[in-house]
Amino acid sequence: MTESVFYRKAASYWANVPATVDGVLGGFGHISDVDIDGSKAFLKEILELEDPPDTKLALDCGAGIGRVSKYLLIPQFDTVDLVEQDEKFINTATQFIGKDNAKIGTLYKIGLQCFKPQKKYDVIWCQWVLGHLKDYDLIDFFERCSMSLNKNGVIVVKENIATGREIEYDDDDSSVTRPVALMEKIFEEAKLKVIKTEVQKGFPEDIYPVYSFALKPVDYNK
Ligand SMILES: C[S@@+](CC[C@H](N)C(=O)[O-])C[C@H]1O[C@@H](n2cnc3c(N)ncnc32)[C@H](O)[C@@H]1O
Repeated sequence: MTESVFYRKAASYWANVPATVDGVLGGFGHISDVDIDGSKAFLKEILELEDPPDTKLALDCGAGIGRVSKYLLIPQFDTVDLVEQDEKFINTATQFIGKDNAKIGTLYKIGLQCFKPQKKYDVIWCQWVLGHLKDYDLIDFFERCSMSLNKNGVIVVKENIATGREIEYDDDDSSVTRPVALMEKIFEEAKLKVIKTEVQKGFPEDIYPVYSFALKPVDYNK
């Protein structure tokens, strides 16, 4: 499959999904609270590091309708920017989060493979979206994120992980699920080091394990 078909198929899949929590979670809206609780605990550990990131500005990547922004990032950060390529989702985000919420920053309607951050972020959160990027686009994306981190900034990746050794392709939503070894190889190629990893607890048995990784640039100087 060519690169443009891979990206176009995903965009049209999401264009036909309702702008609801259940929609962005593929019918698994009921796991949202457990997911957010796990993320809160993971973020708390990051904010309690010896050299923690600041809590001024966060970026929610592949934000959907702003579920992660609303329940996780906005309560912790002064401002949260969102990047999401689907027009209907991003248009719903302000309303879903609360249109009077002064913490909503800039909304970027663009695919992550093309997105070039224009600000410096304390935390860049990528959840359930990176399977939509080709490996080489993901490496480039991470490199751009690395350059857009504030001092002590952290990139968080929370994604489904394949249990076998092989990458798994989902023809419905045009995404891949990567085994942990491939994720680690991609982090290495993007010159990112893993400073914390966790497997989400309390999810149904019959779904992919979901790993959270906290990442910092390798050449990061304190
Ligand atoms: C499974 S949903 C997750 C949404 C959100 N991260 C959450 O956890 O609630 C995947 C999201 O990724 C978005 N997406 C898919 N491909 C993308 C791309 N190439 N760039 C940016 N967003 C993309 C979809 O439109 C959708 O909103």
